[in-house]
Amino acid sequence: MKKHVTLFVAGLFLCSLTGCSFFSVGKEPVLEKSFSVSDNQITIYSSAVTDTLNILLFSDTHLFAKDDREKPYEQYSKRMSGAYNVTKHYKTGGETTPSLVFLETVQVAREKKVDLLAMLGDIFSYPSEYAIEWADSILRDARLNYVYVAGNHDWHYEGMPGSSEDLRKTWIDKRLLPLYQGHNPLYYAVDVKGVRVLVIDNSTYEISAEQLAFFKEQARTGLPLLLMTHIPFYMPGRGVGYGCGHPDWNKAHDGGYRIERREPWPEEGHTATTMQFRDEILNTPNLLAVFSGHIHHQTLDVSKRNLPMFVGKPNFSGHYYDVTIMPMSVE
Ligand SMILES: [Fe+2]
Repeated sequence: MKKHVTLFVAGLFLCSLTGCSFFSVGKEPVLEKSFSVSDNQITIYSSAVTDTLNILLFSDTHLFAKDDREKPYEQYSKRMSGAYNVTKHYKTGGETTPSLVFLETVQVAREKKVDLLAMLGDIFSYPSEYAIEWADSILRDARLNYVYVAGNHDWHYEGMPGSSEDLRKTWIDKRLLPLYQGHNPLYYAVDVKGVRVLVIDNSTYEISAEQLAFFKEQARTGLPLLLMTHIPFYMPGRGVGYGCGHPDWNKAHDGGYRIERREPWPEEGHTATTMQFRDEILNTPNLLAVFSGHIHHQTLDVSKRNLPMFVGKPNFSGHYYDVTIMPMSVE
């Protein structure tokens, strides 16, 4: 008993020196949130939100069109340039194409006058100069407020030597850069009617120390946050290929590197920083939701602390999420 009292007093003393918040738990304002889902409509209610905003969000369009400038790279783009050429619309069952659904989705965003259009990676099947210029011109003409983050295919030429990090940097700098509108391609934030949207690139399956520091800094602002990434985050029950942060994510469980002709996942698995990032998002009370793509299936996971994590169907099937964020409703 005496030992416990001594430890408690020592803890108080330490906290008075460091300003730690261990003994101030309970002083933080309680943030309430809830959400509802109907087909592709998501409504998130939050006590930290004072205005209503609308976000149209999609991933995995897999645009593939090219012109003669692509000839020197054909050995690297052959498989993916034929992967999703004709697709099936998830609602009608009819045939469609990635460029058609991209145009339709941008048009919906214009008609709805959304506050933000969010594109969460794999908008391209490979970094085709023609496809990127085409999408950029459509977005500029639409005059929409938008964010974009890369997916693992946006910068990947299959069989091209180099690490994921190096290839991502190379093809962002050479081709994808205009889509970021001057933001840092690896992490940035935009404010929309009092909600801060964090856009973080985890398309290599990893989070860097800089990205982790950025997230922690944003979490400390106390602002209502949304997190957007290409690869979703692992939750219990999900397979190793599902998302970022699975404890068995490593070379031994990488079933795709030969097909995608890329470096295998590291033998030692995720970095400690990536695992810490996942812990941080699960324990950030002012984070309202996480949105991702990558797996081409619609999923929803809710953490123990009521953090919803949404993944949409691929946009090449015509899917997008129509997200409304609004003040907490009276139950
Ligand atoms: Fe994809």
